Amino acid sequence: MDTKDFKVGIVGAGWIAEKAAITLNGLEGFRPYAIGSRSLEKAKAFAGKWGIERAYGSYSEVIDDPAVDLLYVATPHSHHFDITKEALEKGKPCLVEKAFMANLAQAKVIVDLARSRKVFLAEAIWTRYQPALGMVRDLIREGRIGTPRLVTATLGYSMGNKERIMRPDLCGGALLDLGVYVINFVRMFCDAPIVSMRSQCVKSDTGMDLTNAISIVLEDGILANVQSSASCVGDNIGVIAGTEGNLIIDNVNNPQRITVNGPDRVFVEEIPVPKQITGYEYQFVACRDALAQGLTEPPQMPLDETLYIMKLMDGLREEWGVRYPMDEKEWK
Ligand SMILES: NC(=O)c1ccc[n+]([C@@H]2O[C@H](COP(=O)([O-])OP(=O)(O)OC[C@H]3O[C@@H](n4cnc5c(N)ncnc54)[C@H](OP(=O)(O)O)[C@@H]3O)[C@@H](O)[C@H]2O)c1
Repeated sequence: MDTKDFKVGIVGAGWIAEKAAITLNGLEGFRPYAIGSRSLEKAKAFAGKWGIERAYGSYSEVIDDPAVDLLYVATPHSHHFDITKEALEKGKPCLVEKAFMANLAQAKVIVDLARSRKVFLAEAIWTRYQPALGMVRDLIREGRIGTPRLVTATLGYSMGNKERIMRPDLCGGALLDLGVYVINFVRMFCDAPIVSMRSQCVKSDTGMDLTNAISIVLEDGILANVQSSASCVGDNIGVIAGTEGNLIIDNVNNPQRITVNGPDRVFVEEIPVPKQITGYEYQFVACRDALAQGLTEPPQMPLDETLYIMKLMDGLREEWGVRYPMDEKEWK
């Protein structure tokens, strides 16, 4: 592989695909090389707009293009399974948008397949690859806030009646779209085992969770309260509160600023994150670097962690009675 010209093939010419194209166009050594859409016309328009060399009227054609170094799966969660399975069976490395799959059963099949074929696979949960993660971990490790005791995080976007959020067959709800970030927020900074979890949600007429709240107790005595909503504008702030101060992370979806406060909430310092293109660049760099080292998953987000988060989300949906058609099927 020529690491000077890393070619990404994008499937699904939607909202996040545009962000990926912008990112890759601004990232040295990378190219948004191919776009696949269910409509050739749409693919051509997308390719024209973003200077993409190959436009295909199907997802399979992107998978089959031998020049594609990494397939970026940018369709709704409901469609991740079929596309990723086909790609892995054909030996194509994959970066799959969050939420990784509809449920744990699908995720297990996909991870097993990647491992048995030794094909690279990663979840595109961008916060896991961003420099803010290491910066916050260092602040905690250095004892800047004493011993962490309470973690809170909110992620809310007013998404109206977006089909992908409202429809069970598209794996709707706030949890898989937004809740996945606040759960990751807890797991990124507090890795003790979970000893208990309580939650509740408010549903849409279509039975999808629109707003949810999750309370988690960890074995080391940390309590985390996290919430997400697809129907309101959240503050999107994460706080890690310790015995000697707190860290305020603004925002949990794409950290721009980390504020350190001392005892009695006295301001200590504000730490900006490095200048970014969009914040999505780090996940693409991580995939390229992992592939160059012959790895089959990125160290920043091991597949076992992806499976663990899928399991937590299955449990939460079970509690709330939020079901997808995919939950009624066996996957292999
Ligand atoms: N990392 C992030 O910050 C971030 C942000 C937003 C979304 N996401 C994730 O990215 C994925 C896509 O989200 P998005 O907001 O980009 O979605 P979107 O714009 O609603 O849809 C993405 C594309 O998926 C394709 N698609 C295939 N089957 C579809 C169906 N039955 N209905 C609708 N679209 C279908 C369509 O592309 P074609 O018509 O070209 O085939 C569509 O344009 C989701 O998994 C989401 O969670 C991540």
